[in-house]
Amino acid sequence: MSRDFRLLMEHLRDRSAEVELDVPAPQGSGGEATGARLERARQAAIRRGDRVARVYKVVDGRRSQVTDGSGQRPNLMTSVTENECRTLIAAGAKWVGPPEYIPPPKLYIESIRVRDFGCIKEVMFPLTPLHALIGPNDSGKSTLLEAFGVFTTRRADPASEVTVSLGKRAQTYLRGAWIEHSSSVEPKDVLSQNLSPSAPLSGLIAPVRVLRLDPDAMRQPTNLIAQGSPLEYNTRGQGLAAVYDALLSRRIDIFLEISKRFTTLFPTTRSIQLTNPSQTTKALGVELLDGRSVGADQLSEGMLYWLAFAALPYLQPAPLILIEEPENGLHPSRIGDVMRVLRDISKTSQIIVATHHPLVINELQSDEVTILTRTPERGTIATPLASTKNFEQRSKVYALGELWLNYADGEFERDLVADSTIPESVTG
Ligand SMILES: Nc1ncnc2c1ncn2[C@@H]1O[C@H](COP(=O)(O)OP(=O)(O)OP(=O)(O)O)[C@@H](O)[C@H]1O
Ligand SMILES: [Mg+2]
Repeated sequence: MSRDFRLLMEHLRDRSAEVELDVPAPQGSGGEATGARLERARQAAIRRGDRVARVYKVVDGRRSQVTDGSGQRPNLMTSVTENECRTLIAAGAKWVGPPEYIPPPKLYIESIRVRDFGCIKEVMFPLTPLHALIGPNDSGKSTLLEAFGVFTTRRADPASEVTVSLGKRAQTYLRGAWIEHSSSVEPKDVLSQNLSPSAPLSGLIAPVRVLRLDPDAMRQPTNLIAQGSPLEYNTRGQGLAAVYDALLSRRIDIFLEISKRFTTLFPTTRSIQLTNPSQTTKALGVELLDGRSVGADQLSEGMLYWLAFAALPYLQPAPLILIEEPENGLHPSRIGDVMRVLRDISKTSQIIVATHHPLVINELQSDEVTILTRTPERGTIATPLASTKNFEQRSKVYALGELWLNYADGEFERDLVADSTIPESVTG
């Protein structure tokens, strides 16, 4: 990651600067030979995907530019990669360079195929930048989320096979190794060519962040995050207090913004507090309107879940985020709030959630939902919501969440997926 990338993302998120992106500018002057050499180096940098970001700080809604005799200069100029450029554009940066060098749209996993993984015999279905898996208990939703984990850990059964396609590129976990190939080629055919195993498509799939938030873990006092280290809490949310402590010292403006929203949503509170159970640890707490303090042990579960999602945009960016039941512990009126945070993050990271909540589904488009069901004979079956029986007519009458609820029986979702309009070969 470029040195200033995180800083640029923070500026864009809190609108404290405008960022313009361009190809590297011609360097200096000099003799003709030097000029030609520098131009060759510049062209090589452009081909490699090197780009520059110019940052203009925004004060009171207006650019605050540094001026010199020859015109206005940005407050900061820094080099970024093409991939980072794409992420910056999605977050609001503007491309001002030659149109032919605009970074192509961000790649995301457009489809997944899983074979012989836990209860899954074979499924294949399309994905979107923000996507939900729904369906009865025990249908294979969590198993499917785990299947993505093969691109991080390589610990799956070697008999399992997982292929993800991103545009024309694909990566397969096969016989315990990763191979990269064209998405139009069958992975086993690639293997017969004796290609050497590759790393997971760096920055596109891995690292995978998994969230299975647990209030007890989020309550625990945690060690401080070292100066300059990225903000992280773990899968269960352990480390949340240290993330808020780092935001307080590094980005007080963001801390105050979250705190303001928090006190509006939880009107008995005056502020988010951080306490020191020991010299090296921090814990979360809140100050109540009457001045009393409440420690982490007494914080409501909904508060902890909300705080974890509010901090998620400021963690170390991950290209793929998998979330188990983001609705857990939240009052229905808070679910939309969390889904808006996830929608925002999905502009730069792909997010896949497993959910049981119709209000989560109400926040999504029809192509962003896949129903998983399971039979003893076929294992897990995937049906895109939009391919279910009479979807066109039903979706005119119901919001998506209600549509699901009205036709699902919680056992096989039979009424919903019966006679779906997709061929068997696609459902697995
Ligand atoms: N190798 C295997 N073969 C067949 N079934 C398996 C295998 N490994 C695990 N299972 C079963 O697959 C099931 C899948 O459950 P999973 O947790 O994926 O469901 P889920 O849709 O997330 O359910 P919930 O909504 O309850 O969270 C488990 O109950 C487990 O018994
Ligand atoms: Mg589950």
